[in-house]
Amino acid sequence: MQEKKSIHGSWASRWIFILAATGSAVGLGNIWKFPYITGENGGGAFVLVYLVCIALVGIPIMMAEVFVGRRARQSPVNALTDLAEESGHSKKWGLVGFMGMLAGVLIFSFYSVVAGWVLQYIVSTASGALNNISSDDAGALFSGLLADPTTLLMWHTIFTIMVVVVVAAGVNAGLERATRIMMPALFVLLLVLFGYAMSTDGFEAGWHFMFDFDVSKLSWDAVLVALGHSFFTLSLGMGTIMAYGSYMPKRASIGSTVLAIGFLDTIVALIAGLAIFPIIFSNGMDPAAGPGLMFISLPVAFGQMAGGQFFGFLFFVLIGVAAWTSAISLLEPTVAYLVEKFEMGRTKATIALGVVVWALGIMCLGSFNFMSDVTFFGKNTFDFLDYLTANIMLPLGGILVSVFAGWVVKQKFAAEELSLKSDALLKLWLFVVKFVAPIAVAIVFVLNL
Ligand code: PHE
Ligand code: NA
Repeated sequence: MQEKKSIHGSWASRWIFILAATGSAVGLGNIWKFPYITGENGGGAFVLVYLVCIALVGIPIMMAEVFVGRRARQSPVNALTDLAEESGHSKKWGLVGFMGMLAGVLIFSFYSVVAGWVLQYIVSTASGALNNISSDDAGALFSGLLADPTTLLMWHTIFTIMVVVVVAAGVNAGLERATRIMMPALFVLLLVLFGYAMSTDGFEAGWHFMFDFDVSKLSWDAVLVALGHSFFTLSLGMGTIMAYGSYMPKRASIGSTVLAIGFLDTIVALIAGLAIFPIIFSNGMDPAAGPGLMFISLPVAFGQMAGGQFFGFLFFVLIGVAAWTSAISLLEPTVAYLVEKFEMGRTKATIALGVVVWALGIMCLGSFNFMSDVTFFGKNTFDFLDYLTANIMLPLGGILVSVFAGWVVKQKFAAEELSLKSDALLKLWLFVVKFVAPIAVAIVFVLNL
């Protein structure tokens, strides 16, 4: 049988797939969001729940997404529709793909705003404006940025254009090559920062904060945040990994590939936390400072470090690149769908989508200034969209895909695509996607009501 290929192209090798999927996974979720939600939710116990969610729910669902995408070789909406039909089930499963596309659009709108902060900090570090900055001044500088819609709009616009340009061009060799250099560089710099953090007197406090398990600090809301973040950080529950999987070579093993991606993503998040919290504790800052955590702690650390101006600059550049490769993947499922459905050119589809996400992003950046009074369920637009997508839409999309892979698609398809080393492994995977993942997510949802 001739191998079915996606009309959008395919990755040259398994390694390119790992690179692209890791580029999607490793982003602001790891370096910006993970440390700040860990800080807000009391540390160790939260981290433990997060790790359990990654292993028990995230990895198996990622396998499900890759398998569905690679089997169908189409955008998520059409992949779900076709596989459901081929398996004798309702075509309505395609609706899960629509919810995913919506989640991608909503996530992009606040993601781009945060990426814009990163771009501003690239300039600030380069100019030396952060040299020897005190923690109070770093806080004031960040608040000043949030209060300035014009600057936020400028960076949000620039970032959106950067993403649109790459998505329109297709995931080309240029970007792949760039990622290949930038990702390892980001990792090395994180280690440098981690080394610096180890030398501060806050290191012990930071370590204990992240790894001391204290159940009394855990609420059901914190568990939901940890669960939601495990989807967010692995780019699951909205079709990104499914779309990327549809470009994956047939012969590559899904299980080991997914494990590699999950492992890399987790390591980056943990090291980011271990780099940031010691700095927080050595300087008497508040670990629960919220979304500004990274932007007020890191400038202080770089400001004190030898060569800090250079390292700080490089660090923010690399976070910008990590955010860029993730943001690209937020748009990919929808662009692929538009191209398939309306037979439009990729460029047109990307620009149309770009305009939508850019406009929505203005509401998010306005949350910190001219639109701070606009609230949904007591949250400003930025916080609301973050909460809605990460804690509700992604876990919901995730269990639906899990149920789809476990109960709807013919088991023969799963066995063929996954081709796991043993029958026992396949059975274990099936048990998790059929029962463990959906039930775990359902329980956390219900207990939060
Ligand atoms: N995984 C990305 C991050 O951690 C965010 C993301 C979520 C990207 C969903 C694509 C899809 O930053
Ligand atoms: Na991530």
